[in-house]
Amino acid sequence: MSSVLRLPPFPKGWYSIGFSDELPPGSVTTHKLAGRELVVFRTESGELSAVDPICPHLGAHLGHGGSVTGETLRCPFHGFLFGTDGACVATSYGTKPPKVRARTWSILENHDTVFVWFDPKGEPPSFDIPPLDMRSYVPLTRAKYRFRGHPQDTTENSVDIGHLTVVHGYERPKMLGDLREEGAALHATYEFYRPIGLFGKGFGGVRAEFDAHVHGLGYSFVEARTPALGLEFRYFVFATPVDEMDLELRIAGAVRKLETCDLKGPLKPLGFSRHAARAVEPLVQERSFRVFQSDVEQDFKIWKYKEFVPRPALAIGDGPVMKYRRWAEQFYDELVTGKGSGVAEAAAGS
Ligand code: FES
Ligand SMILES: [Fe+2]
Repeated sequence: MSSVLRLPPFPKGWYSIGFSDELPPGSVTTHKLAGRELVVFRTESGELSAVDPICPHLGAHLGHGGSVTGETLRCPFHGFLFGTDGACVATSYGTKPPKVRARTWSILENHDTVFVWFDPKGEPPSFDIPPLDMRSYVPLTRAKYRFRGHPQDTTENSVDIGHLTVVHGYERPKMLGDLREEGAALHATYEFYRPIGLFGKGFGGVRAEFDAHVHGLGYSFVEARTPALGLEFRYFVFATPVDEMDLELRIAGAVRKLETCDLKGPLKPLGFSRHAARAVEPLVQERSFRVFQSDVEQDFKIWKYKEFVPRPALAIGDGPVMKYRRWAEQFYDELVTGKGSGVAEAAAGS
């Protein structure tokens, strides 16, 4: 049985539907999330709104021919206008608009990424994604993938210490401290050693520290440091369940602007020249993102074919997988309604 059948397919949470520059002012785009379609528009002043696609007037699809007029979305069929709150604010006949409202989805924008809230029962957001100041970082480099998968499986990677050596070739991975739960957030810190290559030179066994922050099952954020070089990075993995089978995975990463880093070791000379630091920054960004991207792509080979095992045969050396799964239960309503699920089995088996 596949993992998507064992775990309820659509846990509640914030899911990325795109990056900000893919949704410029005046744009109208159709997206799929949790098996439903939604239409996202950005008004001329820059406000974002996500609405159900079917016009409450006579049923046209707002994403096929709909357009932005000022601060409203214009339906392509009879030209009725809808505000960002979904309310019909005008007809094209000069008559009083009907008192209807297209259903809206909660939407937020953080570090140039757009997220939509999904809850199977249609409840409002029960947690936030904390805002993040990215001004000390270079612009995010990004990539997007689509494959068979479930957001709980991909996010479980954040606590799966065992695979870091086998899949990614990290050396001596170790968790520093316990997994910390804060409501819908989960934090873990770990270290490992790995050889890195920069400027055509190899630096063997460089120690890296990762602070992983997970907010719901769709949002993972890692702050990475290489203390011996003084470099800092931020990496993001956004897992979005498109339908019962497929996941869209967006990844993004950025190095901290070198002039704001306390560069050390072989990079120390760059700290004395703002000009030199700026000159090599794109190379560090390009190179480090490629390493991150290749790490994620190494995971694909496993994710694509893995099954969700409710009662895993864990061994000493594994990360806190069951603690993670118990934390993840809060994003499913099935447990509350007592219908039983793979998640319930997993909890019982720990
Ligand atoms: S169907 Fe949308 S305005 Fe008529
Ligand atoms: Fe991994």
